[in-house]
Amino acid sequence: MRTDRARSAKAAIASVRGIGGPLLEAASMNLDMAVRTAIRGTRGWAGATNTDYDPADAATAAQPFEAYRRLHDHGGRVFYNPRRATWILPGHEDVRAALRSTDAVTSTRGVTRFMITAPMLVLSDGAEHTRLRRQVQPAFTRGAMAAWQSAIDTLAEELVADVVTGRACDAVARLAVPLPIRIIARILGVPETDGPQFRRWSEDGVGFVNAAATPAGVAQTVTAIRAIRSLRGYFSRQFASGVFTASDTVLGRLLEYNEGGELDEDGLFFIALLLLFAGNETTTNLIGGMIDTLAHRPDVFDALRADPELIPAAVEEQLRFTSPIQNLYRYTRAPHEVGTVTIPTGSRVLMSFGAANRDPRVFDDPDTYRVDRDPRTHIAFGYGPHMCVGAILARMEAQAVLRQLTRQAAAITPAGPTTWSTHSSLRGPVHLPVRLIPATG
Ligand code: HEM
Repeated sequence: MRTDRARSAKAAIASVRGIGGPLLEAASMNLDMAVRTAIRGTRGWAGATNTDYDPADAATAAQPFEAYRRLHDHGGRVFYNPRRATWILPGHEDVRAALRSTDAVTSTRGVTRFMITAPMLVLSDGAEHTRLRRQVQPAFTRGAMAAWQSAIDTLAEELVADVVTGRACDAVARLAVPLPIRIIARILGVPETDGPQFRRWSEDGVGFVNAAATPAGVAQTVTAIRAIRSLRGYFSRQFASGVFTASDTVLGRLLEYNEGGELDEDGLFFIALLLLFAGNETTTNLIGGMIDTLAHRPDVFDALRADPELIPAAVEEQLRFTSPIQNLYRYTRAPHEVGTVTIPTGSRVLMSFGAANRDPRVFDDPDTYRVDRDPRTHIAFGYGPHMCVGAILARMEAQAVLRQLTRQAAAITPAGPTTWSTHSSLRGPVHLPVRLIPATG
């Protein structure tokens, strides 16, 4: 009887086309996880150090660095938060080792606090991941990206000119938000006029990643699913109109490399969705974090104005310092050993990029931004097989903004306190009141 019910539930899941199937399957996995957590209780943490560090706590998410210091000072390598039933890895080498061990520590059950499966690059491993990554990579090579350099420079020049007035403005709303969304819309092949709508769908849709198990969280998930559906409809219409075919855009290139017809409309949609989710808020967080640093560290801004050659290293240090994605999750499908601790099969594990990027064993004086540090080993773009596809693009955008700021502004000063997001994984300024003083001559 129970098997029959399970079978018909599976059949119902299988019968839902498009995004419905993966979302329903995810809901059933999350329920399963909740039941297992209730049964397993705190026995799950044996061997690790218990912690109350909670990445999903809003105040901690806004300012996590004190909590990271405590984890590092403790000296333990594996922590467990029993309330969240989450194992936590803060060490640079331990996060990297886990990201490499995809046989045991998998992305196929999700990379967020809630389990999800979907036919997406970021949610695959092994041969399937290699296959999906091959579909996307050609559109993001250094050569392919070079074609967008002048568009990025022009937009950065325009947006920076708009805010370098000497009057107070919100640098997030005026600069850090519009630059990535307008660039990604453009390289995807979405008309400029659809940009604002895109930003709304993208912002609402990303709520799926961060939804909590509360009434507000459920409402957020519903809004997110609606936004994803709207995006699906939008892309369907765009594909049908043929605008992408033979266009010099990311989707145009993907279609061009898709001669065997391996990528169907769903496949292309999932790629577009991933790029929107992965590329917007992350780059906004990087640019916002950079301007926050410059507003509070005039010595850094002066150093960059005096020597613009420092700009690439300054962006790398900002990536380490801000870590626009503070953490992502993995789930174990086999035991995973970290020193003397064995994380059992079926566990949820937090990969703390933010803590790893401030690991004092790797970075001296990690809580200080140093423009000349050149922290090559930071893992703000992840590490191993899933390392960021859009890293070149994100660097180009942040460097273009910095170049324009150093050319057009003489100083950047705070015009009020910075408000930081409370998202448990993505972190950046949401309001950044600053005054940009024009350079003379
Ligand atoms: C500062 C900006 C960015 C940061 C900090 C960032 C960070 C990351 C991180 C940490 C991962 C690893 C995910 C994992 O291990 O599960 C990742 C993957 C990814 N990123 Fe980015 N990203 C940024 C910008 C972008 C942009 C601009 C794009 C594209 C337009 C992009 C596309 C992707 C994709 C497609 C993946 C999945 C790769 C895979 O699973 O193989 N990212 N990113």
